[in-house]
Amino acid sequence: MFITLEGPDGSGKSTQAALLAERLRECGLSVLLTREPGGTELGEALRKILLNPDKELAVMTEVLLMAADRAQHVEEVIKPALQNNMIVICDRYIDSSLAYQGFGLLGDISKVLAINEVAIGGLWPNLTLLLDVEPKVGLARHAMASNVSGSAPGLDRIERRELSFHQRVRKGYHSLQRIYGERFYTIDTTDLKTDIVAQQAWEVVVRRFCIPECTSKTYLKEGEGHEIDHCHSAGSGC
Ligand code: TYD
Repeated sequence: MFITLEGPDGSGKSTQAALLAERLRECGLSVLLTREPGGTELGEALRKILLNPDKELAVMTEVLLMAADRAQHVEEVIKPALQNNMIVICDRYIDSSLAYQGFGLLGDISKVLAINEVAIGGLWPNLTLLLDVEPKVGLARHAMASNVSGSAPGLDRIERRELSFHQRVRKGYHSLQRIYGERFYTIDTTDLKTDIVAQQAWEVVVRRFCIPECTSKTYLKEGEGHEIDHCHSAGSGC
C-alpha cells in the first residue's frame, strides 16, 4: 500500500501525513512515513540545494535533481519497505514534479513525465490524496506559522516564486486529477479545520484499502499499556 500526499504549499500535507501514519499505527499496522525531496541521506543533501533561496538553479537542473532524489528514495527506502509489507506514506512524490516543474515551470509535463517514469521504475502510488488550497491562502498560512512559532523556517526557494507560478501549480494538480482520476482523491482544505481534513483522509484510506478500523485492540504505547477498542471491518464493500 503506497499512499502519497500532494498539494500546493501550505495545504497542510505534512501535518496530515503524520496524522494518517499515527492512526494507521494505532491499528497495529506497520507504517513508513517519508518525504521528498529528502527521505535518504543523499536526498536530504539534495533538498538543501534545491530549496536554498540563495542558489539559482537552471530549470532542467531542478527537474533532474528532483528526479535523482526520487530514484534514490525509491530504491533505498520505498521499495524495500513495500517488500516488507509496510504501508508507505510519502509527503510529495512524482505528482509534485509534474505540477511544479511540469505545469509550473515548463508549461507542459511531457519531459518531466518521461524523466520521472525512469526515476520511479514503474512504482506509482496506489492512492494520492490531493490537499487542495488556494495559493494565497496556503502561502499566508505558511507565513503565519513562521511568524507565530518563530521556529518554522521562512519561505524556501520554490515557495518564494511569484503567485502566478503557484496558481499554475494548483491548476496543474487539477489537470493531474483529471488525467489520473482513479488514483486521486481531492480534499479542498481552504475552509476546513485540521481534524476534519484528517477524518476525511482517514475515511478514504479505510474505504480504498479495506482497513479494519481500529476500535478495540490492546496496544503498547512506549512503556505503558493502553486499552483501546477492538478492530472491525469499517470499509464498506470490503
Ligand atoms: P515541502 O517539503 O512540501 O515544503 P515544506 O517544507 O514547506 O513542507 O516541499 C518543498 C518544496 O519542494 C515545495 O515548494 C514543493 C517543491 N517540490 C517540487 O517543486 N518538485 C518536487 O518534485 C518535489 C518533491 C517538491
